Amino acid sequence: MAVVTAEASGTFLLGGDIPIHRLGFGAMRITGKGIWGEPDDKDEARRVLKRLPELNINFIDTADSYGPFVSEDLIHEVLYPYRDMVIATKGGLTRHGPDIWPPLGRPEYLRQCVLMSLRRLSVERIDLWQLHRIDPKVDRNEQFQVIADMQSEGLIRHVGLSEVSIEEIEAAQQYFPVVSVQNLYNLVHRKSEDVLDYCEHQNIAFIPWFPLSAGKLAEEGSQLSDIAARLGATPSQIALAWILKRSPVMLPIPGTGSLAHLEENTAAASLELSDEDFQTLDELGKAEWASN
Ligand SMILES: NC(=O)c1ccc[n+]([C@@H]2O[C@H](COP(=O)([O-])OP(=O)(O)OC[C@H]3O[C@@H](n4cnc5c(N)ncnc54)[C@H](OP(=O)(O)O)[C@@H]3O)[C@@H](O)[C@H]2O)c1
Repeated sequence: MAVVTAEASGTFLLGGDIPIHRLGFGAMRITGKGIWGEPDDKDEARRVLKRLPELNINFIDTADSYGPFVSEDLIHEVLYPYRDMVIATKGGLTRHGPDIWPPLGRPEYLRQCVLMSLRRLSVERIDLWQLHRIDPKVDRNEQFQVIADMQSEGLIRHVGLSEVSIEEIEAAQQYFPVVSVQNLYNLVHRKSEDVLDYCEHQNIAFIPWFPLSAGKLAEEGSQLSDIAARLGATPSQIALAWILKRSPVMLPIPGTGSLAHLEENTAAASLELSDEDFQTLDELGKAEWASN
């Protein structure tokens, strides 16, 4: 049987000039527990990364804070010189231990983040650099200004934001074109529905993080698991197929440190949900979200 590759998820023109397959890869899970230090099984993490180009996955999301540095370093070790892959990274968070991520948006720190990511990835320009969080303790205009400066200096090709509202996107757009927004979004987490609709309207990429979660909907005996059984798919694949169908600007980046999970997630690229199944899942997801 032919292997399904990310090509089946369709193509999106990132920033209007970089074609990527919509189903990407999140490289946060190739690090240690609490996204701190080295992964338990570094060889498996290497195998996962090596498999990405074979599966036509050409959009990889990482951050300097994953490890910290472990994810970017591994990507460099296994995938450099990247060929047609887009390595999207982020900066603006410091790390003080497992699961601890204080933001730091001082302009001089954001500049250091970009310079060090350039060095670790061995590139002269970052195709997509995302501000991991707007630091509430620093004037946001100072944060946007230094990003705009780095873009005009040629250190960054395109700029994205993470965990932002429509108002924040519009404020940032006074300084640079916002080409992507990375917010928490999945079948049962719908807080960013308005941001997603805005992005679709503006043709801004929407990168949902934690895309695989289906919460209680994935429990045995649920309607989601019935749909999965009928389609010969797993609940994770149904969650991904739903998210891909939700909007043409959606670029899911499921994360895993396991080769088997990577293959399973990629196979979801060719899973077509009927309009009826899509609608059923949409309503179930919204109801689950409203009940929490
Ligand atoms: N911007 C932000 O603030 C932010 C925050 C969090 C994440 N992110 C980005 O978003 C990406 C995705 O988010 P995420 O990793 O939190 O969530 P996710 O991709 O929805 O889920 C990842 C989790 O699910 C497991 N998993 C993956 N494939 C599976 C499968 N087929 N079956 C069962 N379990 C599976 C993984 O464990 P295994 O490793 O065992 O497969 C991991 O624990 C990250 O990698 C990162 O790049 C961004």
